[in-house]
Amino acid sequence: MSGPVARPEVFSVSSYVGGESSLPGATRVIKLSSNEGAFGPPPAALAAMAQAAAQIHRYPDGGMARLRAAIGAAFGLDPARIVCGNGSDELISLLIQAYGGPGTELIMSAHGFAIYEIAGKLAGCVVRKAPEPDLVADVDGVLALVTPATRMVFIANPNNPTGSLLGEDEMARLRAGLPDDVLLVVDAAYAEYVERADYDAGIGLVDAADNTVMTRTFSKIFGLGGARLGWAYAPPGVVDVLNRMRPPFNVNATAAAAAMAALADPDWIVRGRAHNTQARGRLAARPVVLALTLLTRRLREETDEPAPHLTAGDRPARGSATGHLALHHLVPWFIIGFLALAGLRSVGFIPHMALAPAGIAANWLTVISMAALGLSTDLRSVAAAGLRVTAAVTLSLLVLGAISFALIRALGIA
Ligand SMILES: Cc1ncc(COP(=O)(O)O)c(C=O)c1O
Repeated sequence: MSGPVARPEVFSVSSYVGGESSLPGATRVIKLSSNEGAFGPPPAALAAMAQAAAQIHRYPDGGMARLRAAIGAAFGLDPARIVCGNGSDELISLLIQAYGGPGTELIMSAHGFAIYEIAGKLAGCVVRKAPEPDLVADVDGVLALVTPATRMVFIANPNNPTGSLLGEDEMARLRAGLPDDVLLVVDAAYAEYVERADYDAGIGLVDAADNTVMTRTFSKIFGLGGARLGWAYAPPGVVDVLNRMRPPFNVNATAAAAAMAALADPDWIVRGRAHNTQARGRLAARPVVLALTLLTRRLREETDEPAPHLTAGDRPARGSATGHLALHHLVPWFIIGFLALAGLRSVGFIPHMALAPAGIAANWLTVISMAALGLSTDLRSVAAAGLRVTAAVTLSLLVLGAISFALIRALGIA
């Protein structure tokens, strides 16, 4: 049977798979993969959306004049150089469709934001990735990939998923090293979070010449990811191209209303930035604690221990607990206990005969110290999970021991 056939480029990418956003048995999930704002949407934005919804039978202003004026006022930019999009993803795709295409090359950093590769391949570009030593974009590595076919370079600054960024000097060096006809796209989706003095979101480079674009979004610090609203600050030639490329009503009226209300609250960014800086500091100071916390939570969830905020009614069925206690869930706990034990044994602290009880004690010690370190908000459920693990490990050891013993006897080895 023959049917319509899409361009071969379409099949060079897989359908986008978003990060997981639900967990069986948990009602409050904190999804880290999309970097959504920590405080939810600004209340003023919600109110503005509701108000705009009353007029939703009307088409929006396709040119987004009021919104562009508000963005311009908030960031000190010329509104005529701003184009709004259905998320910055849309603007990135439009730029690639306009400046890329078959026979062209697009350069990104090895761990750059995934959409550049997806949109690049869909447009028929060859996507080249510059190696990233230490998970930071490398200017020399990017410049080394430039060929006569290069049309675009994408740098997310700060980058997602690595979180690393390039200072103003490095970005200027990148721009200076690129041919003038190569479009540099600085994706500054997380610009509002940055506190480093040597950082420029890209505005300086856009102002300095006509071959650099900066993209921004309301999806991150503004907490409006679901509204889908991004914007680009670009030289007049690129603004003209984007306005020709974009669908006439690409930004919806409620999103625009929400964004204007969000911009009107200057404290919102300050609060989000301060919270992020504080949380980042805590996280950076405790990498081991973070790893163990994730381990503990996962174990607790998968052994059916209800999260502390769940009510009795939300409690998942107990029957599946044993099923969840598959060996790979025991392994991390066992390893921690075992390492502690092996350490003590190696310095002769534990006599051979005491190994088994010491093993159980080590498991318990791990549980208690994790709780004491603040790795879990709920000692009872961690302890219960630990108890099950300890019981399961002890039981498995006993069963395995009995089988070995029986085998040795049956085979007459001893
Ligand atoms: C670096 C980067 N650029 C762009 C985007 C897309 O944002 P938007 O929601 O505006 O399409 C994201 C979202 O995850 C991102 O991390």
